[in-house]
Amino acid sequence: MQELAHQNIAAWDSLYGSTGELIWGKEPASFIERYLPKLAENLDDSSLILDAATGEGRNLPALRHLKGRLMACDASENALAKIPASIRENISLFFCDLCRTPFSDDFFDVVLLSDTLETLPDPGLALAEVARILKPGGRLLINIPGEEDEIAGIDMSPLEPGHLYRGRFFYRFLGEEEAIALLESAGLLILESELSTWLEEAHPHYRTGDHRHTSRIFLAQKSSKT
Ligand SMILES: C[S@@+](CC[C@H](N)C(=O)[O-])C[C@H]1O[C@@H](n2cnc3c(N)ncnc32)[C@H](O)[C@@H]1O
Repeated sequence: MQELAHQNIAAWDSLYGSTGELIWGKEPASFIERYLPKLAENLDDSSLILDAATGEGRNLPALRHLKGRLMACDASENALAKIPASIRENISLFFCDLCRTPFSDDFFDVVLLSDTLETLPDPGLALAEVARILKPGGRLLINIPGEEDEIAGIDMSPLEPGHLYRGRFFYRFLGEEEAIALLESAGLLILESELSTWLEEAHPHYRTGDHRHTSRIFLAQKSSKT
């Protein structure tokens, strides 16, 4: 599992380094904006917000609407280097594996994990780490696609568990029950969930053609009793 995780991180880093183009574009993932009011509850200027596995930072402008200090991390140095200068200002960037971050326990008020959990060979480990670094009562906004996502199976070869996209990039699509079980076993309470569909343009050097994603969006909270 660890070997696969390392190969996967190396595949992403090499993809980001292969082009100056922004692979994910400039527009934030479409579901984020409507959750901002829920994420903003209880935040003040001392709050800490993390865009976990930020990639090229397309979601950071949306998160800037929240009060507090914005941070971002990714396991690809090439991705972090591509975050446009106009976006990275006043944002602390961390190069780290999401399964082993340098942050203290109970640190963040809000964590965003967009389009990433399905790409991790050990999603339970990453969610446990997210739960560790969230403050009690802190919130996670995450999307978790199941097999109904239009990209599921396209150019993918089966692996146990999961798939390899174009022979290099790990994917594992989770059904609703599996996703809920994973979140809950990490100690996260689900506040809201919905199935959402949106259109994305082609991703240069990664996916040709416009495509429609279908993914379950979860707003979850770390128990305030821990
Ligand atoms: C599909 S991209 C999504 C990027 C961004 N969240 C977005 O919505 O545009 C998945 C990201 O996860 C990062 N990643 C993969 N494995 C990781 C790990 N173990 N720890 C941290 N980041 C990881 C990749 O480098 C990549 O930037």
